[in-house]
Amino acid sequence: MTTIIGLSGSLRKGSYNTALLAAAKAVAPAGVTLDIRTLHGIPLYDGDVEESEGIPTAVATLKDAIAQADGLLLATPEYNNGMPGVFKNALDWLSRPPADSARVFRDKPVAVMGASPGGFGTILSQNAWMPVLRTLQTTPWWQGRLMVSRANKIIDADGNLQDDAVRQQLAAFVSGFVEFIEHREGEIG
Ligand SMILES: Cc1cc2nc3c(=O)[nH]c(=O)nc-3n(C[C@H](O)[C@H](O)[C@H](O)COP(=O)(O)O)c2cc1C
Repeated sequence: MTTIIGLSGSLRKGSYNTALLAAAKAVAPAGVTLDIRTLHGIPLYDGDVEESEGIPTAVATLKDAIAQADGLLLATPEYNNGMPGVFKNALDWLSRPPADSARVFRDKPVAVMGASPGGFGTILSQNAWMPVLRTLQTTPWWQGRLMVSRANKIIDADGNLQDDAVRQQLAAFVSGFVEFIEHREGEIG
């Protein structure tokens, strides 16, 4: 059984990226669990809060889930050609304290996808994640890319993906990531 934690970088109910993640869960191969978690409940990072109160419960729970999972799938919106602050903020909290970051992130296979109403499908946001994923010592899945453009035309108001070609791309993306994870696990033994 392969378990992947899915995180959408959007808090809004009608999020295209959350919908894309739900569609990814629906096309995941048999034997794969895509466990979709939320950024709701993660406060703004504040070093004073960390010092006085420690790691917030929502962060600690998500850290444990990622640490135990075989992989991490980020569905990232693009804001001003970068990643949204709420998403980066969450990863920043998840990397705390530094002594515990390796348990959560080191060598963790990570795939990045994204959806945008614009024409470039979050390519710049996806690129912006790369130095962060490197710093966290993850193992990004470099081969896999999924950029969903014109998301407002292919995801309906109920969050359903209405484009079969994109669904096929998504299915290939998810199974490619699963193969990457399972191949690596086979090599590590
Ligand atoms: C502050 C802000 C900046 C944005 N900048 C970009 C951008 O650089 N590129 C882009 O494709 N879309 C941009 N958008 C539009 C988002 O792609 C759009 O709001 C999208 O629906 C956000 O993802 P979500 O549906 O998962 O919430 C921006 C939106 C906001 C609120």
